[in-house]
Amino acid sequence: MPTAAVMTPRQLYERLKNVRAGSLVCQYSLKKCEELVPLINEINALKKEKGAVILVHSYVSPEMVYGVADFVGDSYKLSRDAIKTSAGTIVFVAVRFMGETAKILNPGKEVLVTADDPGCTLADAITAQDVRRLRKEFPGYAFVCYVNTTAEVKAECDVCVTSANVYQIVEKYPSDKIYFLPDKFMGMNLKNEMQRRHVNKDIRYFSGTCYVHEEYTGEQIFKVRSEYPDVKIVCHPECNAEVVANADFVGGTEQMLEYMRKATAKRFLMLTECGLSARLQSEFPDKELVGSCTMCKYMKSNTLESILRVLKAPQERERVRIDEKVRVRALKCLEEMFKYAEPSPSRKAACE
Ligand code: 13P
Ligand code: SF4
Repeated sequence: MPTAAVMTPRQLYERLKNVRAGSLVCQYSLKKCEELVPLINEINALKKEKGAVILVHSYVSPEMVYGVADFVGDSYKLSRDAIKTSAGTIVFVAVRFMGETAKILNPGKEVLVTADDPGCTLADAITAQDVRRLRKEFPGYAFVCYVNTTAEVKAECDVCVTSANVYQIVEKYPSDKIYFLPDKFMGMNLKNEMQRRHVNKDIRYFSGTCYVHEEYTGEQIFKVRSEYPDVKIVCHPECNAEVVANADFVGGTEQMLEYMRKATAKRFLMLTECGLSARLQSEFPDKELVGSCTMCKYMKSNTLESILRVLKAPQERERVRIDEKVRVRALKCLEEMFKYAEPSPSRKAACE
C-alpha cells in the first residue's frame, strides 16, 4: 500500500469514511482528516528523507494503515515484506516481537518500533529459560513456537509458525511429538485440527493466552447466529476451541480479509482486533460487520505522533537490538518456517 507524496484530507477521508471504530458513533469526519493529514505528510516526507520504510500491522488504527504504510498485513506477510525491502531503516508500527522478527531477518538494518507499549500477552507469557526447562521435561519433542514470541524464545525452538501457516507446518513437520508454545488456545485448536485431518501427533502446549481473543465465547456466536441467520462467522486461531468449532472460517488476519473479499455473503461477525474490522469496513463497504470487536492496547499504543517522534529521534528502547548469537539461532527457527510454509501462503481456510 504505497503512499502518495502528499495526501489531501479528502483522499484520507475517502479511505476512512466507512470505518466505524468500535461502535456506530465513533467515525472519521472530513474535519478529523483535515487534522490528521499535516502529520501524515510530515511523516511521509521524513520517511523519504531518512530512507525508511514503514511496515504496519492491520491491528493499528486506520489513519496509519491508509496514511503512512508502505506495507500492511499480518505477521507472516510483514516478515516477507521485511526481507524484500532495500531501505536502510525499517519502522515497525505494531508490537516488539514483530520488530524483532524484522531484525532477525535484517541484521544490518536499523529496526525501530513505534508503540509506546510494544508488549503482547503471548510474547510476554514465556521466557527462554522456560523453554530450556520444558525441553528437559519433554525430551524427543519438536518445539514449535508461535511468531508471537521473543527472539530469545525463538532461539530455543525448532520451527516458528504464524496464524497463517500453523496447521500446515505442524502437519508437514517431521516429528510426531510436538510441543507448541506459548498459546494454549492455538495449541488446543492445533490438536483438534490434526485429529480432524487424521494426522497422528502427540501435541502438548504451554499456558499463554491473547487477552484480546480469549474474550470471545461460543455463547456470543449463538446469539449473533440467532439474530442474523445468514451471518458468516470468521475467527482467529487464538480464540478458544468452542469459538473455532462454531465459526465458518478460521485463519490469520490476512486470510480473514481474503475470505471476506471472496465470500458472496453480505454479513460477517469478525472475532478479532478492531483494526482489522476497520480495514474491512474501508475496503469492502458493501459488506456489513455485525457485533463488536475488541481492542489490543499494545497495538493501539501506536499513533501518528509516536511514529513521527521515533522517526525524528528514536530512543534506545525503540531501537531493536538482538544479541548476535541469539539472532543466528532465532534465524534458523524462522528459516525452518519459510521452508515448510507454502511458497505463496495458502488462502484456503485453515479449518473450513
Ligand atoms: P496475525 O499474524 O494473524 O496478524 O496475528 C497477529 C496477532 O498478534 C494476533 O493477535
Ligand atoms: Fe498480542 Fe493479542 Fe495484541 Fe495480538 S492481539 S499483539 S496476540 S496481545
